[in-house]
Amino acid sequence: MTPPGPDLTACRADFPILGQRLGDAKLVYLDSAATSQKPQAVLDAMDAYYRETNANVHRGVYALAAEATNRFENGRTALAELVNAPPEGVVFTKNASEAVNLVAWAWGMRELRDGDEILVTEMEHHSNIVPWQLVAAETGAVVRFAPVTGTGELDLAALLGMIGPRTRMVAVVHVSNVLGTINPVAEITAAAREAGALSLIDATQSVPHMPVDFAALGADFMVLTSHKMLGPTGIGALVGRPDVLGAIEPFLGGGEMISDVRTDGSDWADLPHKFEAGTPPIAEAVGLGAACAYLSNVGLDAIRAHEIELAGVALEALSAVDGITIFGPDDPEKRGATVSFSLPDVHPHDLAQLLDREGIAVRAGHHCAKPLMRVLGVGSTARMSGHLYNNADDVHALVEAIGSARRFMAG
Ligand code: ALA
Repeated sequence: MTPPGPDLTACRADFPILGQRLGDAKLVYLDSAATSQKPQAVLDAMDAYYRETNANVHRGVYALAAEATNRFENGRTALAELVNAPPEGVVFTKNASEAVNLVAWAWGMRELRDGDEILVTEMEHHSNIVPWQLVAAETGAVVRFAPVTGTGELDLAALLGMIGPRTRMVAVVHVSNVLGTINPVAEITAAAREAGALSLIDATQSVPHMPVDFAALGADFMVLTSHKMLGPTGIGALVGRPDVLGAIEPFLGGGEMISDVRTDGSDWADLPHKFEAGTPPIAEAVGLGAACAYLSNVGLDAIRAHEIELAGVALEALSAVDGITIFGPDDPEKRGATVSFSLPDVHPHDLAQLLDREGIAVRAGHHCAKPLMRVLGVGSTARMSGHLYNNADDVHALVEAIGSARRFMAG
């Protein structure tokens, strides 16, 4: 029995979109692993930025530009504090995919040699597979996949056994976007370091939902994206150890990332600007900063406790659905509130469309994790994914609507 989590009911009112009705139905948003909803505080911060201080950053000497720079850099500081990383190690990118690409191309293209190994897992999102495959194809390196067990957990012993003298990078997801499984990343990064390899954590699905301490996790790199953590789209981050980032050449060239440009060459700006070519996503950084403040105010311990309870409710209620297959660990303590499932008689896409008629938003498909779908022996799943604003009523509405959908399909 899962202990009751903190009551976050009041938070729901902070998200304007959740008050919306879709025709006759109340919106039940259960797709936060795809993108989260945004609290009023984030909308207000971005609106105020454009209304009050819009100017380019790090360029103008006038007051408006100084204030824009201030708000932009405050976004970086807020994110750095949230994940316990030094601000100079927080590089803004477009999203988490771009952050992995930055490491793969800027580090991997220069450092990887024929036969070197990049170790990932079978439960990675495509964003932590494809960039490595692209760079492996250019360098002769090999991408290896640590297996996932029948219960949807990482086979840790197998992964540790795959780390060897040719391993140069171990890149692992913290929380699976399909299974909700929480991986023991600190143990993995320690093993990588011992073997002389670098490590990267895909924290896209953990940072929005639980306390994540970059320093304590012991990784060289960590990637995340704002839009899943209550912030706007268009901005993510590569968090890196400054000594490791400092040794890497730039990824993209252009304005902002230089200290000098001559006809015979250029010199780079200090971290983190060396990796931020061109005008950055300024309003987005402001919104992300407000999202970090919102998450901190609610408290990531409280959000995690709430989501353990939500996962427990979801696992119990969905298990009662006749014939259902639920993927991932059955212990809510071992997972986030993301639950993938399939039914013998309704295709996930049909189910998602029928649920939509009742105002319920879930994702159906391969969830950008095709290798994992093959391990699970399915082409696609239906997936509910919760956040701090979801509650047991949302889960019960989902289960009831699944029953209606099955009756509809049965004619
Ligand atoms: N990666 C996002 C998801 O899992 C898009 O839905």
